Amino acid sequence: MSIPELPLGSTNKTIPCLGFGTATSSFSGSDATKEAVIQAIKLGYRHFDTSAVYQTEKFIGEAITEALSRGLIDSRDELFITSKLWPSDAHREHVLPAIQNTLNNLGLEYLDLYLIHWPVALKEPGKHVFPFDKKDLLPMDFKSVWEAMEECQRLGLTKSIGVSNFSCKKLENLLAGAKIPPAVNQVEMSPGWQQKKLREFCAQKGIVITAYSPLGAKGTAWGTNRVMDNEVLREIANAKGKTVAQICLRWVHEQGVSCVVKSFNKNRMKENRDIYDWRLSLEELKKISEIPQQKMYDALDFTHEEGPYKSPQEFWDGEI
Ligand SMILES: NC(=O)c1ccc[n+]([C@@H]2O[C@H](COP(=O)([O-])OP(=O)(O)OC[C@H]3O[C@@H](n4cnc5c(N)ncnc54)[C@H](OP(=O)(O)O)[C@@H]3O)[C@@H](O)[C@H]2O)c1
Repeated sequence: MSIPELPLGSTNKTIPCLGFGTATSSFSGSDATKEAVIQAIKLGYRHFDTSAVYQTEKFIGEAITEALSRGLIDSRDELFITSKLWPSDAHREHVLPAIQNTLNNLGLEYLDLYLIHWPVALKEPGKHVFPFDKKDLLPMDFKSVWEAMEECQRLGLTKSIGVSNFSCKKLENLLAGAKIPPAVNQVEMSPGWQQKKLREFCAQKGIVITAYSPLGAKGTAWGTNRVMDNEVLREIANAKGKTVAQICLRWVHEQGVSCVVKSFNKNRMKENRDIYDWRLSLEELKKISEIPQQKMYDALDFTHEEGPYKSPQEFWDGEI
């Protein structure tokens, strides 16, 4: 079963609706990452999501080389690779070196999508760590960093550029000065945090949303059990002979957005992929729309009394 794709803005490019996440709680990669990516390619995943901070770029690169040599794919062009600019590199003069470092790690000539990971900067370019010392937080100069992102696209180092963890207000600011509008905003989205307002805003502006943590990231350092343990989702899953994870992913798909989900387990990788030959009924969609909303990750790590954002409310511009 092939994974559907969504058009990216007004271009002729597309993004696979389902992507394979590679962030682990330890923010490290290993041969297990490489093996998981190869397995995912075998199962039909074509979109792989990473970031400088995940430390998985090198292992994804090794997996791509092996997939090509084993004939699992004929060409790198069959893949859609997303990576992200970590806040320590979110300074005009460090964006180009950062994407070049990412491409070296991956062993690729271009990315399909390069995102500003968080709307904030950090001291010490090239230091890709999380958690970091909150005293190192700095405001990001949106205009000059975005100009450097645009330069990355113009130079052919990435096919598209976008952002992550941006509120409607921050997108509005960025769009006001952008020559190339962001193609994507990658944000937390699941039945437990449905992002109705941001989805409407992005749809109007032609920005594709990619939902991260679509299962509430259960079992990770930043996740919650609330989504996978939700009774409404469990009842719907039982009635349809599906799993709660499949209900979450199908719901995300039916909202017209793309998503990235992480599993390094072969059976769960299959389960997460098998969501395109059935649908949710109107009644089921209504029940899901009534699930109480609570954000999983409030970005407290990115706020500080002397930093650019004093509280999660400020960080998300009240959109929480
Ligand atoms: N832009 C950002 O700031 C940002 C933030 C967070 C995440 N992301 C990206 O989004 C990706 C996905 O988000 P996420 O990893 O936070 O959360 P997620 O995909 O919602 O959940 C991942 C967790 O769910 C488990 N899982 C996966 N499929 C399952 C299934 N069918 N049944 C039961 N458990 C299942 C995984 O364990 P197993 O591996 O053991 O299956 C893992 O513990 C990340 O890997 C990363 O690439 C981006």
